[in-house]
Amino acid sequence: MKPIPLAEGAYLRLLEESDANELHALIEANRAYLARWLPWASRQSPADTEQFIQRARKQQADDDGLQAAVVCDERIAGVVGYHSIEWVHRRTSIGYWLSEDRQGRGTMTAAVSALVDRALGELELNRVEIRAAVDNRRSRAIAERLGFHEEGTLRAAERIDDRYLDTVVYAMLAGDWRR
Ligand SMILES: CC(C)(COP(=O)(O)OP(=O)(O)OC[C@H]1O[C@@H](n2cnc3c(N)ncnc32)[C@H](O)[C@@H]1OP(=O)(O)O)[C@@H](O)C(=O)NCCC(=O)NCCS
Repeated sequence: MKPIPLAEGAYLRLLEESDANELHALIEANRAYLARWLPWASRQSPADTEQFIQRARKQQADDDGLQAAVVCDERIAGVVGYHSIEWVHRRTSIGYWLSEDRQGRGTMTAAVSALVDRALGELELNRVEIRAAVDNRRSRAIAERLGFHEEGTLRAAERIDDRYLDTVVYAMLAGDWRR
């Protein structure tokens, strides 16, 4: 994937193994904030971050999706990617996080929009899902801002720190996506 420009000089580019230290430092600095909604965040070690990037590189080599760095002011500010691609059903799902101090500028909405565009355009998939905990208002707002359809709620579908959370499923179909 070539870098994808977003607004104000921000862009998406594939994660590389040389990003491990910078990415881990960002996770460390945002650990408590990320751990509210992301199950891996509370215990992520430097080795876990390295493994995540290695898995992301393999995922891309296997044509099973990708993980991109969200770069703002030439620093990594977050990650967005496809969890995997189900080619038989032509569908994928998107996950994302952004550092706390970069919230509120539309950066992640633009990043997710770019990956939806790629999934339903270049990759010719038919369905993109976003799942968010019921109380994760900022994450749900991204799906809603992009016009995703709210399809239902999965009960106790996520476990965060021994709490089971209900998850809202949103989807965009190729025929409904504005290009
Ligand atoms: C989920 C998360 C990425 C959302 O971040 P965010 O900053 O709210 O999302 P965006 O970057 O798209 O910014 C949207 C905000 O920018 C504002 N904005 C400004 N310019 C904008 C533009 N051109 N387009 C869209 N929104 C814009 C929006 O109004 C919104 O602000 P508001 O919520 O105060 O109204 C972030 O909260 C996060 O990483 N949370 C922790 C991890 C997490 O929950 N991940 C998702 C798991 S399902």
